[in-house]
Amino acid sequence: MITTVCLNPCFDKTVSVDRLLPGQVNRIREARVDLGGNAINVAVVARRLGLEAQCLGIMGENGATELTALMDHEGLTHRFLTVPGGHVRTNMKVYSLDGQGVTELNEPGTQVTESILQEFTRIVAEDTADSDMIVLTGSLPPGCPEGTYRDLINALDGKKCILDTEGRELELATKGADPFLIKPNLREMEATLGIELRTMRAIRDAALIFVRLGVQHAVVSMGAMGAMYISADKTLFAPALRVETKSTVGAGDAMIGGMLLGYQIEKNMARAFRYGIAAGAASVMTEGNQPINRSDFDALLDQVRVQEV
Ligand SMILES: Nc1ncnc2c1ncn2[C@@H]1O[C@H](COP(=O)(O)OP(=O)(O)OP(=O)(O)O)[C@@H](O)[C@H]1O
Ligand SMILES: [Mg+2]
Repeated sequence: MITTVCLNPCFDKTVSVDRLLPGQVNRIREARVDLGGNAINVAVVARRLGLEAQCLGIMGENGATELTALMDHEGLTHRFLTVPGGHVRTNMKVYSLDGQGVTELNEPGTQVTESILQEFTRIVAEDTADSDMIVLTGSLPPGCPEGTYRDLINALDGKKCILDTEGRELELATKGADPFLIKPNLREMEATLGIELRTMRAIRDAALIFVRLGVQHAVVSMGAMGAMYISADKTLFAPALRVETKSTVGAGDAMIGGMLLGYQIEKNMARAFRYGIAAGAASVMTEGNQPINRSDFDALLDQVRVQEV
C-alpha cells in the first residue's frame, strides 16, 4: 500500500480566454474543474499504474462533499480531517488562447490549528501500518508551523518517505529527519541552496549535500531535459523522452507515481528511476491535469535510456 499525504488539497479550475487582459473584464470561453493537489495527483497516478494507494489529508468543511465525490469517482481510498468553517481552495489556471501562456492564481488554503495538525499526525501514524511508502508533497496550508514535513516524517518512525518540497521545508526535513527520497526540480534545488547549478557535476554535488544529511536517494527533475538520480554510490542521468507535449502540468507528480511502481517491481530505487522518466513523459501527453494512461506509460518504458554519470 502507498499512502500520500495531502495537507492542502484543492479544486483545479482551468479556464480559457481569447486574450488575458489584466485590469479588465475577461470573458471565459471554457471552464472545467478537476481534482487537484500534488498528493492527490500522485495517488491517482499510482492507482492508474495498478498500485494500491490511499490519500490522507486535511480539508475545509465547505467544498468537502464535492472534493470527496471527485476522489470517490477516481476510486481513491481517502481519509481527510475536516476543518469546521474552512473551505477547500481553488487553484485557477487561465489559458490565454493567443499564445501568451498560462497564468496561475493559487489560493493559500484553509487555516489549520495546532490541535487539528496533532490529530492528523496521530491518524497518519495509525493509518500507515500497512504502507511501504509514504509520499509527502504539496504546499502547506496557513497555520502549519515551519518543519511540518520534518515532524510528520519523524512521526512515521522509520517508514520510507518520499518528500517533494522546496526551500525551508526541504532544508528542515533533510536536517531533522531522514526522508528516503527527495524529488526537487532543478529550479527548486537552486532556490533551496541559493546557488546556480549549471553542470551535471554541480547538480550531483548539490544533491550529495542532502545525501550526506541522511537522504538515501535524490532525483532532480529537469522538465524536457530529463532527470538525474543521485545516491551515495551512484549517479545516473536519463534524457526526457520525446513525446507530443499537450501539458506539462503534473509531470513531477506522475514521475513520483512511476517511481513508486518501479520500486515495487524492482525493489531498488536506481532501477525504479526509469519508470519515473516514462511516467513523466506519459503525463505531458495528456491535456491539462488529466492523469496518465497506462498504455502510454507501457509503450514508453522500454524507450528510456539511463546512463551512468
Ligand atoms: N516536455 C517533456 N517531455 C518529456 N518528458 C518530460 C517533459 N516534461 C517533463 N518530463 C518528464 O517528467 C519529469 C518531471 O518533470 P518536471 O521536471 O517538469 O517536474 P516538476 O517541475 O516537479 O513538475 P510539476 O509541475 O508537476 O511540479 C522530467 O524529469 C521528465 O523526465
Ligand atoms: Mg514538482
